[in-house]
Amino acid sequence: PAQRDDLKQRAAALLKARNAVLVAHYYVDGDLQDLALETGGCVADSLEMARFGRDHAAQTLVVAGVRFMGESAKILSPGKTVLMPDLDATCSLDLGCPPEDFAAFCDAHPDRQVVVYANTSAAVKARADWMVTSSCALAIVRHLKEQGQKILWAPDRHLGRYIQEETGADMLLWNGACIVHDEFKGVELELLKAQHPEAMVLVHPESPRSVVQLADVVGSTSQMLNAVIHGSAKEYIVATDNLIMHRMRQLAPGKVLIEAPTAGNSATCKSCAHCPWMAMNGLQGVVDCLERGVGEIHVDAATGEQAVHCITRMLDFVA
Ligand code: 13P
Ligand code: SF4
Repeated sequence: PAQRDDLKQRAAALLKARNAVLVAHYYVDGDLQDLALETGGCVADSLEMARFGRDHAAQTLVVAGVRFMGESAKILSPGKTVLMPDLDATCSLDLGCPPEDFAAFCDAHPDRQVVVYANTSAAVKARADWMVTSSCALAIVRHLKEQGQKILWAPDRHLGRYIQEETGADMLLWNGACIVHDEFKGVELELLKAQHPEAMVLVHPESPRSVVQLADVVGSTSQMLNAVIHGSAKEYIVATDNLIMHRMRQLAPGKVLIEAPTAGNSATCKSCAHCPWMAMNGLQGVVDCLERGVGEIHVDAATGEQAVHCITRMLDFVA
């Protein structure tokens, strides 16, 4: 702990000295979340991270999360320096949607509006008409459906199917998944619910259908956090990365938080309720990127100029 406090102080001093701001996701280490809040940064969902980074006056952003979050920040603010604690922090959705294959998919369906999830590379976003995050995907697809548009959706198949069922839109789905949320289990969740009949069930829509169907609230990380803060229940079963509970405990200290069940043992569960890429973010990484300038995000200028439109469109839609 003494070493951690020391690192945290060094990181805070470096953020100040470099006029930098820390933008963190709810799934990163609790010390990083605290550091972000103590130094004028933010802890947020992926949509709010993008907006915060774009609007903040600091010319250096340290993005603690996964690569697509740093790339979105850079695309929205090409003039800013965007640093990440670990450039190898990626996402199974991004990895599962290679730009060349995705371009071929789009070429084969030119009559469809291309809607991509934020969890994709800059090159994939460059081919898209719209970017969405889990907090606004439903509203944007509903809007497109009202306009009579057919949709090509990538990459998360669970989120895509959930939105398709909710909106009735004509959606062609890419077959990607999040390795963390894919592990939540409907049958086991039903048993857990029976043990906690009063508990409210909160589910991130990257989870399988059998899990989403048992939810009282389906939403982004921020929407789940708000449900705990404002909900009247005492107990909450949470189906998302368990580090979100750090912020939930701070903002709703009286509430009882229960992890939703995954495959249940480390032999079969690849990522039991914690994202291995989010876990690559630590205080040392923040110190290193600010002290030595390692971990800088670069997005090819032409790709960024194409990709920015789909992100701006989303931000204008939710404004
Ligand atoms: P949010 O947009 O809800 O923060 O989700 C991002 C993510 O990567 C979830 O796994
Ligand atoms: Fe990607 Fe899943 Fe990790 Fe989110 S939790 S960054 S969707 S692998």
